[in-house]
Amino acid sequence: MFETVTPPEPDKIIRLMGMFAADTRTGKVDLGVGVYRSPEGKTPVMAAVKQAEERIWTAQDSKSYVGLRGDLGYLDAMRHLILGQSVPADRVAGAGTPGGTGAVRQVLETVHRLAPSATVWISDPTWPNHPAIIDHLGQKRQSYRYYDAATGGIDRTGMMADLARVGRGDLILLHGCCHNPTGADLLLDDWQEVAALCARTGAIPFVDMAYQGFGLGLEEDAAGVRLLAATLPEVLIAASCSKNFGLYRERVGAVLIVTTGKAAAEGVLAGMNRQNFAFPPDHGARVVQEILGDETLGALWRGELDGMRRTMEGNRRALAEALREETGSDRFGFLAAHRGMFSLIGATSTQVDRLREVHGIYLVGDGRMNVAGLTPDTIPRVAQALAEVLA
Ligand code: LMR
Repeated sequence: MFETVTPPEPDKIIRLMGMFAADTRTGKVDLGVGVYRSPEGKTPVMAAVKQAEERIWTAQDSKSYVGLRGDLGYLDAMRHLILGQSVPADRVAGAGTPGGTGAVRQVLETVHRLAPSATVWISDPTWPNHPAIIDHLGQKRQSYRYYDAATGGIDRTGMMADLARVGRGDLILLHGCCHNPTGADLLLDDWQEVAALCARTGAIPFVDMAYQGFGLGLEEDAAGVRLLAATLPEVLIAASCSKNFGLYRERVGAVLIVTTGKAAAEGVLAGMNRQNFAFPPDHGARVVQEILGDETLGALWRGELDGMRRTMEGNRRALAEALREETGSDRFGFLAAHRGMFSLIGATSTQVDRLREVHGIYLVGDGRMNVAGLTPDTIPRVAQALAEVLA
């Protein structure tokens, strides 16, 4: 069956991971895939996670199946983390998934089944796996303007003009915070405008929440999705614990659906899980549940998360400052204003190639930089290389 098949090209992030791994140069700098690194360049297991794992290891006496939607305690903890008090619990259906990508896939496939003619509107640009999954499912998609490269901010007029064309039942895919790849986030007024547009048109917001706590803080980063949940009849949410709990390889995610048909939505999600992978992974979800359900562990985790956010903010400020010195201009000032792991640095693909080939600095082909990959040691060198290549 496979002899004549051409395998699909990996997307630009996965391709870059392979290239970085194959590069034998010492001093190479990985600013590609979205993985947090400490100032020492490590991606450590969080202390709260270690302690939760120890407790689970001691107390757990079975690895038998849990349920098609995973552990209900985990789902409730995730609902509370993301939605707070914005909407009553009896309006929220949930299901565990393998990672945030699994949640994106389950939401899109659910919508594809229930509303095959709906168009999914994605920001231009967005995470490459969004259009890839939509296309794989055979859904219709359209892009809306989002990023204004000239200012490093959001093209609000373009965005709202494009979204004015949505139809009833269409999905508007929004990044809950820390927009990937631009780092430019919607403000509360923008969320308000999106909510009003959805109320007016009958379009449904679909929020991808992959970086809660990496932007301004756990509560602040959830303000947009909470506003939608408090005002609209239906909101679809794909959540990831890869980044904020550092549980990348454990694959911990969840679908949350704000709806007036909770029981039916839960049945649909359970059926979708059954057909795609049956039971969602348990270990990482249990770690999250243990942390969120325990005051001491929860405080420890929030402290560690704050520390990660401060490191990223520090990297942004230090790189912007080093670039100001290198270039004698404020051209890269937007770096300090962006939120989360990523910024589009404004490099062409040729410049990205040169950064990699000559300087061993790895950025995604569209010029996306993972600022969490910087360290105090690498910042001066990266600033010099950027100033030279982007001159
Ligand atoms: C990224 O955007 O780098 C991360 O979300 C990792 C991934 O799966 O692409």
